[in-house]
Amino acid sequence: MANTVVVGAMWGDESKGKLIDFLAHDKDVVVRWGGGSNAGHTVVVPNAEGGEDEYKLHLVPSGILHPNTLCVVADGVVLDPASFVGELTALKARGVTCENLKVSGNVHIVLPYHVLLDELEEKRKGKRALGTTGRGIGPAYQDKAARVGIRMREFVDPTLFAERLAEVLEFKNELLTKIYGVQPLSAEKILAELLPHAEALRPYVDDTALRVAYAARSGKKVLFEGAQATLLDIDLGTYPYVTSSHPSAGGACIGTGLGPTQIDQIIAVTKSYTTRVGAGAFPTEQNNALGDLIRERGAEYGTTTGRPRRCGWLDGVALRYSALVNGLTDLYLGHLDVLTGFEEVKMAVAYRLNGEEIVDFPSDQGRLCRCEPIYKTFAGWPEDVSEIREYAKLPENAQKYVEAVEEYVGVPITTLSVGRRRDQTIFREG
Ligand code: IMP
Repeated sequence: MANTVVVGAMWGDESKGKLIDFLAHDKDVVVRWGGGSNAGHTVVVPNAEGGEDEYKLHLVPSGILHPNTLCVVADGVVLDPASFVGELTALKARGVTCENLKVSGNVHIVLPYHVLLDELEEKRKGKRALGTTGRGIGPAYQDKAARVGIRMREFVDPTLFAERLAEVLEFKNELLTKIYGVQPLSAEKILAELLPHAEALRPYVDDTALRVAYAARSGKKVLFEGAQATLLDIDLGTYPYVTSSHPSAGGACIGTGLGPTQIDQIIAVTKSYTTRVGAGAFPTEQNNALGDLIRERGAEYGTTTGRPRRCGWLDGVALRYSALVNGLTDLYLGHLDVLTGFEEVKMAVAYRLNGEEIVDFPSDQGRLCRCEPIYKTFAGWPEDVSEIREYAKLPENAQKYVEAVEEYVGVPITTLSVGRRRDQTIFREG
């Protein structure tokens, strides 16, 4: 397939990094189209000494580990300069070449007032807090929509940046002092802190929409690297407990500048169970010893914030919704090894809402928080599957579970993951 979009199927943290790293082998361009340093992708690759190296990436596309791949941070992203430059510095220190990286001049910059407002707004909401990652994402997208954001091309021009900052900060400081009752921010301090980062970023700035469009037109293969996930999409997700961007498949087009006709394949990554961080309804959550066991076995702690993830059984209803709204061609089922040893394994196949059985996922919090899952139960498997590489060699019960998920969701599971490493992967078709 030429152009492939990878999305998170549910509420994020599905380990998309591993698949993206895998697919990047065969692609010419890897594009990150949305979100910011709220995302965290862990990629584990074999090293020359026969061991493994782990990379934790937040904004830099996972394709960066492939030296001949063009890596693009496209228009839909919001970029925290300190975090991004820190990531580049750490990568370079480990010998990763970042020469093939391009950053859109249209990317919006996450500034210190965005991070502060994110924190203050969460505090103000109290019990209704969203449980954001605290990276200033919501306030940065808010400014973008209000057309007062500062974009990369302005940021890397010291005169223009100083002008724009002074203009925006005037209002932000009114907000900070009069509404939130905190100290104003100093433009001089922000400039002193950020100008060296602007300097470091200038060589990477590019008209990425055109670059990617020309690459696609000339037959180059493009991989769209999703961050966050479908149920966190500001329109299609479980609003208001969502992020402020479009992590579902359609967002790849908007955030990059490539038309929908150019997309050949859409793969969603899901775990064999479900997790969520932050607040919001989660019908299959196991807030009990079982959930704790899944968390420990699956090492379910956030890459970005270190927060323990809420864990539960696979929510087939949510997954089916995700398949529909993304127009999925393929499913990647990960973390199958984590389910080893459970006597039984469950998948929600319907919800009970107001005494009625429903199969269509209600994406609004008002209805979703009243849904009770109706499960289908499967016999578990005691065998370790982490060294299995052929689908037919999986325990029969594991195969039955995989096939039931596939049938219920109506999308082929073409790849399975049975561990963190690149090689712990099972391809079902070639
Ligand atoms: P924000 O994106 O920091 O504004 O957070 C909004 C919601 O999205 C919160 O529930 C976060 O926990 C969630 N979220 C944001 N990024 C990620 C991610 O990469 N993985 C999982 N959840 C995320």
